[in-house]
Amino acid sequence: MRLPIAVGALAAIAAGASAFAQGISDPGERAFQYCFSCHSVEPNQTEVLSGPNLNGVIERPIAFKAGFQYSDAMKSFGAGKVWTPELIGQFIQDPKGMVPGTAMEKPPGPRNPAERAALLDYLKKPR
Ligand code: HEC
Repeated sequence: MRLPIAVGALAAIAAGASAFAQGISDPGERAFQYCFSCHSVEPNQTEVLSGPNLNGVIERPIAFKAGFQYSDAMKSFGAGKVWTPELIGQFIQDPKGMVPGTAMEKPPGPRNPAERAALLDYLKKPR
């Protein structure tokens, strides 16, 4: 069941209109569809995605997920810092503005503060 969901998320991102995401009732999970093509939140992620696993990312040191090849930009930006919800909220609105040279492109959403808050709550949930 992973593949159709991933395809749906990509289609939703590509289309900009999230017809697929509207079928998800949890607003945080819905907002995570903007991230889902590159990031997992599963503790035991097996598939290889282009972004680091975000399980437990809140309060985790930046650029710290073992086995992920971060950009030099992210490593030097992150030295001595952890991901607070505020910092993640800023980063996803303008990744290259906050971390010039990061490998992460600006995602098409979340599109407003309510979606952003729901997404951050979703990332905080223990799994
Ligand atoms: C097209 C792929 C892609 C999408 C979509 C994407 N990201 Fe990323 N993300 C990346 C990559 C690649 C990195 C590694 C950046 C680097 O090393 O410079 C990253 C890094 C991060 C990090 C730093 C993690 C760490 O371990 O330090 C956070 C936090 C993050 N992304 C959050 C998000 C959120 C939240 C979304 C959805 C709103 C999102 N990303 C959407 C590709 C993506």
